[in-house]
Amino acid sequence: MATIKAAILGFGTVGQGIYHILNEKREELKSKLGLELEVAKILVRDTSKERVPGTAHLLTDNIDDVLSVKGLQVVFEAIVNEEPAFTYLKRAVEHRCHVVTANKVMFAKRGLELQELAKKNGVFVGYEATTAGAVPVIKTMKNILLVNDVSRIQGILNGTSNYILTKMRAEGWSFDEALAEAQRLGYAEADPYNDISGQDAFKKLMILSALAFGEQPNWSDVEVIGIDGISLEQVKEAIDQGLRYRHVAEVEKYPDGTITAKVGPMLVDKEHPLYPIDDVFNAVTMETNYIGTLTLVGPGAGMYPTASVMVEDYAEIIGKRAGFVVSI
Ligand code: NAP
Ligand code: HSE
Repeated sequence: MATIKAAILGFGTVGQGIYHILNEKREELKSKLGLELEVAKILVRDTSKERVPGTAHLLTDNIDDVLSVKGLQVVFEAIVNEEPAFTYLKRAVEHRCHVVTANKVMFAKRGLELQELAKKNGVFVGYEATTAGAVPVIKTMKNILLVNDVSRIQGILNGTSNYILTKMRAEGWSFDEALAEAQRLGYAEADPYNDISGQDAFKKLMILSALAFGEQPNWSDVEVIGIDGISLEQVKEAIDQGLRYRHVAEVEKYPDGTITAKVGPMLVDKEHPLYPIDDVFNAVTMETNYIGTLTLVGPGAGMYPTASVMVEDYAEIIGKRAGFVVSI
């Protein structure tokens, strides 16, 4: 049986989730994919930090140690920010490694470039986990785009924001209490600025725009507002009026080719499809010509939801490489 050498870049919430799933599902991966996935190196910033028992010997803070692993075939990337992530993944595809990323900051800006580079090198890029956590929006969209035109995408794309708004409304928690709990649960980024300012949802929206429309609007033309200005009093006033705050991202392509987008809080009533979407859940609605309106809902963040879709992405890549579609 083939042994596939894998590396994990970043060993925080998501990186550790990948490691746990590869261990827990070792036997199933062997029988379903006919291969063994062995984690050969893990890249972090601080190798002295105590993490998962039994992994200290795999840690390095030097990307060259990762890329010099003999027979390395796949790199799972779960670090933060555009750089050095893009440079590391560029080097990985140039080494003819498949890459699977959760890093939406990097992918929103450099995703098309990375995919082009991967194509030239005969490898694949999986990026389901960059957008809406475990909600399979990327795969779904890829599966309908041959004959469907998407005209509009609207959704809740940040799990932390939705969790905070839910807890403020349903439990009466303060903004800070809800954010602290979202951080403890591994939903929020280590620096939660992108979550609460709307930037995280904006990056995910740009990834969806690139996939659905082949292009993104000018970033500077997009109004991006977070939930950081919403007070407990405003949340209570909304309850009194039978309304709920949602943080909504939307992008639309008009028949003349113009693309517009906006990201910000919205008050919705009980007739609105986003009204019941609570906690860390995300929801994405796509308006298309043939299917009509398609909505996907599910967990938008968290260790296992995110890591599991990254492993599924890799299974799909293996299927493409072998010339068949994996059906598990
Ligand atoms: P995290 O818990 O903060 O972990 C980040 C990891 O990356 C840490 O192990 C850190 O190393 C490492 N790292 C950061 N910069 C590095 C660098 N320059 N070189 C080497 N290692 C570096 O973050 P996370 O929540 O796992 O998220 C990881 C990525 O997945 C982010 O891009 C995030 O947006 C995305 N994502 C997260 C979720 C989620 O639910 N958490 C869901 C979907 C996507 P040290 O530990 O040594 O500092
Ligand atoms: N911090 C992000 C969120 C993680 O809360 O949605 C998932 O991308």
